[in-house]
Amino acid sequence: MAQDKGAGSLAKFCSSGRCSLVLLLGVLVLAAVIVVVTLTGSSLRVPVVYVSPSRNVSRDWWKKSIVYQIYPRSFQDSDGDGVGDIKGIIQRLDHLVYLHVGIIWISPFYVSPMKDFGYDVSNYTDVDPLFGNLTDFEELVTRAHTKGIKVIVDFVPNHTSDRHSWFQLSRQGVDTHKDYYIWDKGVRLENGTFVPPNNWIASFGGPAWSWDDTRQAFYYHAYLPEQPDLNIRSPAVQKELKDVLRFWLNKEVDGFRIDAVVKLLEARNTSISNEPLYTGDTVNPYFRLKHTGITMNNEDIGDVLKDWRNLLDEYENKDGKYRLMIAEAYSQNASDYAVVNMYYDWGADIPFNSNLATITRACVSRCIRDRVEKYLNSMPRGRQPNFVLGSHDVSRVATRMGSRHASALNMLLLTLPGTPTTYYGEEIGMSDIDSNLFEMQDPRGRRLGRVNIVLFSRDPERSPMQWSSAWKGDFSQSMNTWLPVNRDFLTHNVKMQKESSTMTTIQSYRRLAEVRQRRAFYNGTFQFSVTTDTILSYVRAVRGEKYLIAINFGFDESLADFSGKPVDSNSGKVVAFTEDTQYEYDMDVDIRRLSLPWGQGVVVRVQ
Ligand code: GLC
Ligand code: MG
Repeated sequence: MAQDKGAGSLAKFCSSGRCSLVLLLGVLVLAAVIVVVTLTGSSLRVPVVYVSPSRNVSRDWWKKSIVYQIYPRSFQDSDGDGVGDIKGIIQRLDHLVYLHVGIIWISPFYVSPMKDFGYDVSNYTDVDPLFGNLTDFEELVTRAHTKGIKVIVDFVPNHTSDRHSWFQLSRQGVDTHKDYYIWDKGVRLENGTFVPPNNWIASFGGPAWSWDDTRQAFYYHAYLPEQPDLNIRSPAVQKELKDVLRFWLNKEVDGFRIDAVVKLLEARNTSISNEPLYTGDTVNPYFRLKHTGITMNNEDIGDVLKDWRNLLDEYENKDGKYRLMIAEAYSQNASDYAVVNMYYDWGADIPFNSNLATITRACVSRCIRDRVEKYLNSMPRGRQPNFVLGSHDVSRVATRMGSRHASALNMLLLTLPGTPTTYYGEEIGMSDIDSNLFEMQDPRGRRLGRVNIVLFSRDPERSPMQWSSAWKGDFSQSMNTWLPVNRDFLTHNVKMQKESSTMTTIQSYRRLAEVRQRRAFYNGTFQFSVTTDTILSYVRAVRGEKYLIAINFGFDESLADFSGKPVDSNSGKVVAFTEDTQYEYDMDVDIRRLSLPWGQGVVVRVQ
């Protein structure tokens, strides 16, 4: 077996004391630079002085916690209409306590025509009746806080629904609102008709410009025509959006996940900014153009985010509670971490790192190692890394990697450095539902799916949570749930897995969530150990405590000697393991001959 003992090339993660000093210095330097740049009248459009309040221990709560994403349509239906709701989330809070989840991020529940299932908001400051009302939301926050769970809400500033009153006023050219969206007359052809001003295309297919008869102009939309992009450069829009943030902050939320942040701003001169063709390989029509800078990750986004960061910090200054900013950051070239890392400087605490949310069976141990290594090496000093296995936008990890590997992937997620995000259902190894068996709901799938349904429809990963083997998996009393419950719910559900007397995906998850509260995991060093074509292993350590995490991504049993550097020991005790292993808690193991059945993993405390 060809083995490559990890040389431990990764920089050690600094101890918190040193980091705070470095961070403080960094912030001072950054603030100084911004002041200088502002004073010298540079290109900063929204003048902001980025001042971060002094650090204290209570600011770092999000560094030790697991973020758990709830897609509210699919979590728990409390009123029997087949769609999940806020009361349903309240009913299930103890599930999150069981999992030791410290933070929930809830996808949009605002008033919406649901063209993009809530990511098309027509009123930012109220709850859609489908999900309940504001009183339900307030109760959710209070109850979650009582249980020690922070609540992060989705903020969708890039676009509204075309039904939003702002858009209605804007299309009528009403003076107060005429610049709220991105309007362009386009180019007049000889025959008197108009064509869009440039070649920009929408992420969900088709041109990014739609003609509006009332306004007699095109408006820009990065997503659906029913999701017109706001003109973030307008000071009035900036004020509106900050009022939305304030509204939810006043409802005691602990932070925001900023949706589609990479598309927040476009190049200023729309009429001359054609996007170049992308020369790489892609199946997604959206990526046939190279978006860098013009419609994606535009450099001016930083000013807006810093402004929002300041607002969050204002709240912290008032009550001492740090507010979290998660950003849905990504770049066209997935390995271009520098682009995603810019969002740290712009005020985000967690710019999502999706490099594990796209892995398939073609990417196992060495490939995963490579991604983790490059990402960690790209980390700016003192910043918190983060990892994600899945979301409401990508096929479930159990489907991409094989359901027998689901638990080992949770082990990976929960033992890597940084803040992990779990998409609901991953804790029981939920798989995608088969898109051939129901009517497609997702607009992206409907628009792009003719080429490849499986690739473009996001319905498969959005099926209802599988709570038990009762009717509809105990998700709903309805005859018709908005998406079908996965047929495997009889064998894959929370209740069964919790009650099982042998190890299950959920039990393994819970144990790992406990174990990662030890310092070696949230504040320890990280070094790769043995890596083969199938085995991935690494060590997490602080002074006096060392853990070996070993995972077999292959399809055969593995046997390897992990006793060399950085483990440096022959023996240890089992602290966590996935379901199909021979291991038990506290079992003594010989690190020179550690075996793992296929798709399984183990955490050993080294002695
Ligand atoms: C983000 C969301 C996605 C949504 C899109 C438009 O990418 O994650 O679900 O469709 O923004 O709001
Ligand atoms: Mg309901």
